[in-house]
Amino acid sequence: MARDPRYDILFEPIQIGPVTAPNRFYQVPHCTGMGHRNPQTLAAMREVKAEGGWGVVCTEYCSIHPSSDDDPYPAATLWDEEDVRAQALMVDKVHRHGALAGAELWYSGAFSSNFYSREEPLGPWSRPTYLNNPVQCRVMDKRDIRDLRRWHAAAAKRAQRAGFDIVYVYATHGYLLSQFMSPANQRSDEYGGSLENRLRLCVELIEETKEAVGDTCAVAVRCSAAGGTLDGTPVIEEHRALFEAAADLPDLWDLVVDDYSYEMGTSRFVKEAALENYISWVKQVTSKPVVTIGRFTSPDTMLRQLRDGIVDLVGAARPSIADPFLPKKIAEGRLEDIRECIGCNICYAHNSRGVPIRCTQNPSMGEEWRRGWHPERIPARQSEKRVLVVGGGPAGLEAATALGQRGYEVTLAEAGKALGGRVALESALPGLAEWARVRDWRIAQLNKLPNVEIFLDSPLDAGQILEFGADCVALATGARWRADGLGRWFESAIETSDRARVLTPDDIMAGVQPDGPVVIFDDDHYYMGGVIAEQLRGSGLDVTLVTPDGIVSSWTSVTEEQHRIQTRLLQLGVRIETSTVLEAVRDDSAVLACAYTGKQREVAAGCVVMVTSRVPSDALYHALSEQIAIARVGDCSAPGTIAAAVFAGHRFARDLDREPADVPFLREGSMR
Ligand SMILES: Cc1cc2nc3c(=O)[nH]c(=O)nc-3n(C[C@H](O)[C@H](O)[C@H](O)COP(=O)(O)O)c2cc1C
Ligand code: SF4
Repeated sequence: MARDPRYDILFEPIQIGPVTAPNRFYQVPHCTGMGHRNPQTLAAMREVKAEGGWGVVCTEYCSIHPSSDDDPYPAATLWDEEDVRAQALMVDKVHRHGALAGAELWYSGAFSSNFYSREEPLGPWSRPTYLNNPVQCRVMDKRDIRDLRRWHAAAAKRAQRAGFDIVYVYATHGYLLSQFMSPANQRSDEYGGSLENRLRLCVELIEETKEAVGDTCAVAVRCSAAGGTLDGTPVIEEHRALFEAAADLPDLWDLVVDDYSYEMGTSRFVKEAALENYISWVKQVTSKPVVTIGRFTSPDTMLRQLRDGIVDLVGAARPSIADPFLPKKIAEGRLEDIRECIGCNICYAHNSRGVPIRCTQNPSMGEEWRRGWHPERIPARQSEKRVLVVGGGPAGLEAATALGQRGYEVTLAEAGKALGGRVALESALPGLAEWARVRDWRIAQLNKLPNVEIFLDSPLDAGQILEFGADCVALATGARWRADGLGRWFESAIETSDRARVLTPDDIMAGVQPDGPVVIFDDDHYYMGGVIAEQLRGSGLDVTLVTPDGIVSSWTSVTEEQHRIQTRLLQLGVRIETSTVLEAVRDDSAVLACAYTGKQREVAAGCVVMVTSRVPSDALYHALSEQIAIARVGDCSAPGTIAAAVFAGHRFARDLDREPADVPFLREGSMR
């Protein structure tokens, strides 16, 4: 299909200093959990983005010196010539598709603890490093500042030798330059105190990077355009000073905002193009191109941002992860094929855990090199097998889609009246509406596959599955939340009186209305406990959320939303009992106990909601596994995230008719 000419502007080349980007699609720097450990994995992943039409593809934060080391998060490095060779792998692959490659030079300063290199962290002040590590950085003296400037210029040169087209001065996200620019920097020398002094190091680095590599590379500055609150009131006075001091010095401004949890907020809290109010003033003070982000998945929003002169390039991290081929799909007029990011931040969560990135929507993300998976191509079927997929949740939908794309004859049987499984239910909970994209994209793809037949309202028992006679069955029947409280804290059921009312998230999602006051016991620690609390409080109930952890929804710290969740619950009037466990459920009350001392107290409870763990719905597997070729896929095998269910469905489809291997993917390492 031809491209809608309305979108032509998105495909116009643009000059950035000495280089020209072929279009306006700009993959801003984002980490991958691969960094210096997995250069081949990284290069293959970035190549897919370039192949998919991103005109600029950047690295993640790239350390310039061993005194800036973020292990166990594996940042990329540009410390020496070996790193030049590793980075060149990515550059060559990106160039192969006509895109530009950008390197984000990073110096952490007082942020990192340097646990790998064991170098002392350096910062503008002597303060403890982040994450409560027992490490305090050294105050940089003049010699340290001179060293830093030398390291930065040398790393820029190395980036140039690796073939990069754009080199970054990274002046945000709390790292060294933000620390110098902060009003908290009250050094008594020319690098602290007054605003002019606080900006000095940043301006020097921009000038010196231009001097080092400006003949062939564009120099970009990533910095914050505003502080301010979630209500959209930007605070720009301090930020404006940097733009005024260096308005036309760099070749490109890459704009973010002070609050990282807003910049890359989950869809539960932050919607598309949310930064617009904060950054729209910048083009008035610079003649240089401007790029920013906003979880852009709608071509019309992208178009409007360009047309209205807010930006010159459309920046994206997550949309390029969820769909590396997003630009190509717009170019080819295939808008309905765009696999839109759902804003769950599972990508960031795993990178924050120091493991390779993954994506809920795009199961091939991070698997390009080690498993040879491509987001748009899948090997053709290797047999005439007829496959029955039982269950139309995320795992079943993905399995049916990918099997159908391989060319197998597929029957998808869903017990309910609609497809989507847990995604359909969970996307109806407060703030999670965009999660329905997991279902909707797959349904749109399935509708194009004549070899996939879908049956709704079709619960199957073991006899019916046998009778159907498929060559192979993928059981994707999901899991149910337990009502007995067993989970991480309790290894056996919580004592519960016969007349107590105990519900689970499945009941709430099915529309069961509890009697108040409600006690939620959250031993799951991800989003579900907090979301259920929000929903029940929203319906006017008195709600207490009890968790053995010290904070609410603790795992959401890695999705960058924990603070927002706890704030929202407190603002809604949910009572929060941290470091507390649910010891027993009585007729009209709950017995709570301190997680440390065991001291008990009783609170009124008309109903208790258990959010602790799930039971796989795998009875059909056990009934049939000795009789037919049947596999459990997704939550009915091992309950986990939606991302894990989609991955399992995709893997099942990819692996059909392949010999299983004990080590199912390639590994990188110099001994191999
Ligand atoms: C997995 C992940 C890793 C990121 N790592 C970096 C990084 O290394 N350097 C950086 O400047 N920003 C990083 N970011 C922030 C993104 O560049 C971007 O500003 C943010 O995700 C918002 O853009 P989006 O809405 O298009 O995702 C990261 C974001 C994600 C999702
Ligand atoms: S993991 Fe979630 S937030 Fe990240 S790119 Fe994929 S869909 Fe978007």
